[in-house]
Amino acid sequence: MEAEANSGSLEDSWAFIQSLGEGCRTVPLAGHVGFDSLPDQLVNKSVTQGFCFNILCVGETGLGKSTLMDTLFNTKFEGEPATHTQPGVQLRSNTYDLQESNVGLKLTIVSTVGFGDQINKEDSYKPIVEFIDAQFEAYLQEELKIRRVLHAYHDSRIHVCLYFIAPTGHSLKSLDLVTMKKLDSKVNIIPIIAKSDAISKSELTKFKIKITSELVSNGVQIYQFPTDDESVAEINGTMNAHLPFAVIGSTEELKIGNKMMKARQYPWGTVQACFHYPLPCHAVENEAHCDFVKLREMLIRVNMEDLREQTHSRHYELYRRCKLEEMGFKDTDPDSKPFSLQETYEAKRNEFLGELQKKEEEMRQMFVQRVKEKEAELKEAEKELHEKFDRLKKLHQDEKKKLEDKKKSLDDEVNAFKQRKTAAELLQSQGSQAGGSQTLKRDKEKKNLGFL
Ligand code: GTP
Ligand code: MG
Repeated sequence: MEAEANSGSLEDSWAFIQSLGEGCRTVPLAGHVGFDSLPDQLVNKSVTQGFCFNILCVGETGLGKSTLMDTLFNTKFEGEPATHTQPGVQLRSNTYDLQESNVGLKLTIVSTVGFGDQINKEDSYKPIVEFIDAQFEAYLQEELKIRRVLHAYHDSRIHVCLYFIAPTGHSLKSLDLVTMKKLDSKVNIIPIIAKSDAISKSELTKFKIKITSELVSNGVQIYQFPTDDESVAEINGTMNAHLPFAVIGSTEELKIGNKMMKARQYPWGTVQACFHYPLPCHAVENEAHCDFVKLREMLIRVNMEDLREQTHSRHYELYRRCKLEEMGFKDTDPDSKPFSLQETYEAKRNEFLGELQKKEEEMRQMFVQRVKEKEAELKEAEKELHEKFDRLKKLHQDEKKKLEDKKKSLDDEVNAFKQRKTAAELLQSQGSQAGGSQTLKRDKEKKNLGFL
């Protein structure tokens, strides 16, 4: 650029000086270079890679979640109906590879099995919040890896949450409000009134107004179709006013006029009362009957990319920021100077080492204290043992002495007995010699000696 400025005219030099101030200057091209094909290159690359889109259907059991998904994508996804006896909410995730023209879409549908069947509301929404966070966490872990393969990574973050509202015609249930409030900072919520063929058109209008006012008064942020892009601003602006969409789901195709349409047919002939339409059925794909087409247009045809973008730039960004702050990472230090990753790491490491040392010191002191206590305990036990031993020794000596005394007295008795016995034997032998006359005298002596 310097050489260019030196060799050019005065105007060129002036333009060069100006461009230095602005950072870069505009240079007209003499011919076609080809970088206008960049968008095409981008499109081709994206088409080759394919797209992924993840939908979370939250709604009470049997509200028509599976039917609506089948109707939206014009196919039959497998899925067992849930029972009302689930012990807790289970998030069932199924991924499908769809193809339309040459565009591939990896679609994941996550359904909340058993939602609303718990007595405690927290048991209903907590597993959903945890599931959404777990998908963010998995993506964050992939991002933080040294060897990242994000292009091959199956992004499971939820791009949109279709919140199914029961067609009560009254107001939102507290479970709906509390769940949407918990989810609104984590996912793009599009509320829809399910099975809207169950309420009349005038009731539906009032119900929509009621729901909108309740969402506003409770500070629930629902997804707004973007109006900053001129090409879709008008349609998105109009559609925002139609939220929440009232939908009817059906996979049944019926001939209406000369067209095959997805519709619901009922045993009672006409249904004009509900939708002022002289047909014996609710045509799902008829905008006079329900907002199904609006939902399909807004969700799939117009705003799918914005939903993906919002998920990444708003919801995931918030999760990532909170998580990194929790881990001690900051962009600026207390003096508002930028904080480098290295410095943060060093600071965190030092803090960790300090804590470790403190813990070690505490453990050492605790150990010494415990040893001292144990020593004192052992000494006390030893003293007690000594005392017990002395007591037992004394007892033993006393017993021994008593036994010895007893033995001595018994020995004396035995000796006396022996003497008496010898004397008696002597007398007996003398008696046998002196004859029977003496018997009386001997008996008398024997008696004296104690033998009779
Ligand atoms: P679980 O997965 O078991 O929680 O149910 P789900 O929410 O997936 O509901 P599902 O799509 O299985 O529909 C339940 C019943 O409602 C089926 O008999 C459907 O035919 C019926 N159904 C679905 N959508 C509509 C609708 O828009 N209007 C009416 N009247 N019935 C519907
Ligand atoms: Mg289902």
